[in-house]
Amino acid sequence: MTDTTNTTNTTDTTSAGEGAETGGTRGADSRAPSRRSLIGWGGAGLALGAAAAGGAVAMARNGDDAEPTAAASGAAIAFHGTNQAGIATPVQDRLHFAAFDVKTTDRAAFVQLLKDWTEAARRMTAGHAVGEGAYGGLAEAPPDDTGEALGLKPSRLTLTIGFGPSLFDRFDLADRRPEALVELPKFAGDNLDGNRSGGDLCVQACADDPQVAVHAIRNLARIGFGKVVIRWSQLGFGKTSSTTPEAQTPRNLMGFKDGTRNIAGTETDRLKKFVWVEEKDGPAWMVGGSYLVARRIRMNIETWDRTSLQEQEDIFGRDKGEGAPVGKAKERDKPFLKAMKPDAHVRLAHPDTNAGATLLRRGYSFTDGTDGLGRLDAGLFFLAYQRDVRKGFIPVQRSLAADALNEYIQHVGSAVFAVPPGVRDKDDWWGRALFSKDSKVSQSSTNSKEA
Ligand code: HEM
Repeated sequence: MTDTTNTTNTTDTTSAGEGAETGGTRGADSRAPSRRSLIGWGGAGLALGAAAAGGAVAMARNGDDAEPTAAASGAAIAFHGTNQAGIATPVQDRLHFAAFDVKTTDRAAFVQLLKDWTEAARRMTAGHAVGEGAYGGLAEAPPDDTGEALGLKPSRLTLTIGFGPSLFDRFDLADRRPEALVELPKFAGDNLDGNRSGGDLCVQACADDPQVAVHAIRNLARIGFGKVVIRWSQLGFGKTSSTTPEAQTPRNLMGFKDGTRNIAGTETDRLKKFVWVEEKDGPAWMVGGSYLVARRIRMNIETWDRTSLQEQEDIFGRDKGEGAPVGKAKERDKPFLKAMKPDAHVRLAHPDTNAGATLLRRGYSFTDGTDGLGRLDAGLFFLAYQRDVRKGFIPVQRSLAADALNEYIQHVGSAVFAVPPGVRDKDDWWGRALFSKDSKVSQSSTNSKEA
């Protein structure tokens, strides 16, 4: 049986049993019998079917896995696991991030939506169309899948769900809200647009193919029709933070290497210390989860482009070519903070300046046309995961009040989400432990009474 569990750092190249779930060329099964009937065929035929589909049958078993050939082969990232994929997973090239507002007041309907979303996410991340596919079904009914990802590879698609503070004002969830899920305070220089902030839910879709990421969000929104509505969304490209130390560090739109000193997906100890919620942090339903801060940061790139190289380098405390910290030769050399200007970004953001506060950054660049004043609406869609927002983003962002970079950027959107642990197996679904009747249940227990 193909293992879609992301709990180990190994890869699984077997494909049998529920092989329809392995990463094949998307939609190759859409004319074939449904997933349910495929399961009945047994393993050998499925392995053949997947191979015939030209699919990338190599499946990373761990969402956090840095499988070297995964990106090249367009392979699938495992959906099941202790933690949700899309956090410590090597960063994909493209992003489609969507925040949703909940429209239904019916708890059972909302729980059903989470189950339907989980099933759709399970299929799409494995490279398959939603439900019975985009065509071949009943001519009288809209197809289960919108179709634009037919023929595309899984492209390392990950779908990561988060619950915003406002969700806990609904469905009798008030006593389940984690203490760490605080509303972010107002920070110096914030110029937030309410239409690009907040949200009861979010889904982060990352993939190496933008069409695969967009298809995933679109289909989740479609499935949610009448129960949830997209509040705002953001497309991103050119990942600005690497979580794979050996890869070349990507550059942000200011032209600097971004993500040099980040938590790598392979650094299990640091992930445990700074990213994953533990039993003692509580609540039980969040163990194995994390907290996400999303900030849409507009860059005044026209002003930046007229700034001297020396000033640009002073602002970050690193040189533009190599990315080395001030006074050092190599990008990975340990920064000597006192050699930097007191208002240098790296100096102020560094854990040593912030009582050890450390974030896993996973941001993307964006350009969303122009602002009507002849300037590009461009910047960094900052995404950071942490074990506790009060010990992560908040102190670091407060420290950045003095950042020399502030002259060139403006935070225009903001949101915070509790990101639950991973979906364990085919019977599990996003948020099961949160909606179970027993408040002590964690996502690892399977005998909870739901909803
Ligand atoms: C448009 C806005 C931003 C830009 C262009 C930017 C760019 C950079 C660059 C070029 C580096 C150096 C390379 C690296 O270690 O990654 C860096 C480091 C860092 N940034 Fe930012 N950043 C931005 C916003 C933020 C924000 C909002 C935060 C958190 C509140 C943040 C936290 C950090 C941290 C923690 C480091 C690593 C510091 C270290 O350990 O040396 N950045 N950033």
